[in-house]
Amino acid sequence: QTLDCRGLLVLPAAIDMHVHMRGGTQSVKEDWTTGSQSALAGGVTVVVDQPNTVPPITNREHFKVRVADATAHSYCGFGVNGAVTRDARIADLWQGGALAFGEVFIAPSSYGEALTLEVQQRTFAEIHRLGGLVTVHAEEVSGTAPVGLRQHSLQRSPAGEERAVQALRASCAPGQRVHCCHMSTAGSLDAAHRAGMTAEVTPHHLLLSIERFADTDTHGRVNPPLRSERLQRELFLAWDRIDLIASDHAPHTLNEKAQAFTNAPSGLPGVETMVPLLMAHVLTSELSLASVVQKTAVAPAKVLGIPPAGFSPGDRADFALYPREAVPVEAADLHSRCTWTPYQGMLAVFPERVIMRGTVVYDHGDFTRIDPCWYRGRGYMERPQI
Ligand code: NCD
Repeated sequence: QTLDCRGLLVLPAAIDMHVHMRGGTQSVKEDWTTGSQSALAGGVTVVVDQPNTVPPITNREHFKVRVADATAHSYCGFGVNGAVTRDARIADLWQGGALAFGEVFIAPSSYGEALTLEVQQRTFAEIHRLGGLVTVHAEEVSGTAPVGLRQHSLQRSPAGEERAVQALRASCAPGQRVHCCHMSTAGSLDAAHRAGMTAEVTPHHLLLSIERFADTDTHGRVNPPLRSERLQRELFLAWDRIDLIASDHAPHTLNEKAQAFTNAPSGLPGVETMVPLLMAHVLTSELSLASVVQKTAVAPAKVLGIPPAGFSPGDRADFALYPREAVPVEAADLHSRCTWTPYQGMLAVFPERVIMRGTVVYDHGDFTRIDPCWYRGRGYMERPQI
């Protein structure tokens, strides 16, 4: 099979190491079919599914069901993380093939309970002994249910996020490999690095701020919260210090988001728009193409210990072909079952074709399903050079 790539940018396909594919009783939000199609249409060929499903992935039985569901329905490659909760069977999950552990909820979030310090220390020590990677959602929460975006952002403040990262280092096993999910400010990013951890940043913290939404607009409600335009800009300017980008794709339905702010779940969809939004900034020369590839394809592969996408023997033959033209994001064109996007109207460059394991699996809106690759954990005691 030959492909005409004239005029296109041929890039290694991305890995999104933080997605919530939902499924089961949450299939009204998303399932493996819609979530993985959304990933492919955004140039992502490997997703890492978070374990705060219903039920959460706390033991080998739940893990097997999850992997079977993904194997039968996913259009893209995947890894499944093990949950870290009071009753989680850590060794069992690792032997069953968990890619990593977490996101671990240090503070409560949608479908996630906060861990007590005692449980955290016990489970983290076990993950460290096994050589697993632990990924954490580090936040501090204060006050009652928030009534708007500004209050939400104060109750889960940047300072609290930094403190949570520091406290985490103190309570980890010596030398433990920890990855911080979705650091929402440049200060938190630097705190993660000072603690010897790798850190991801989401497109929404990089490109959206609370000023873009009416205060009670739940479509801007996410954990960690969106910040002020000033802090968002500062994070964007810290681009070179960011280890990797992950979307925290956390779809909720329009009906769920239509509830009063106090009751609406936190979370935004984003797997399909992650690379396309960054590519629009490549076209305007605000970001270098090499740095986008590094943070969406190279670094996540290193952190997760899975083969990179590329042309060398042993590499994943996963590529995405991008035009040199940005278009406004249109919710109706996206593939997530949640049917909305917080990026409506923002410029993005969507891939025309996506290749996975040498096969064209996405072509101008059409999908071809091939057996998806399942990536398992292999041990992560060292912080990788990224
Ligand atoms: C996530 C979800 O909905 O699963 N929500 C969110 O606001 N990010 C849970 C989480 O990652 O905290």
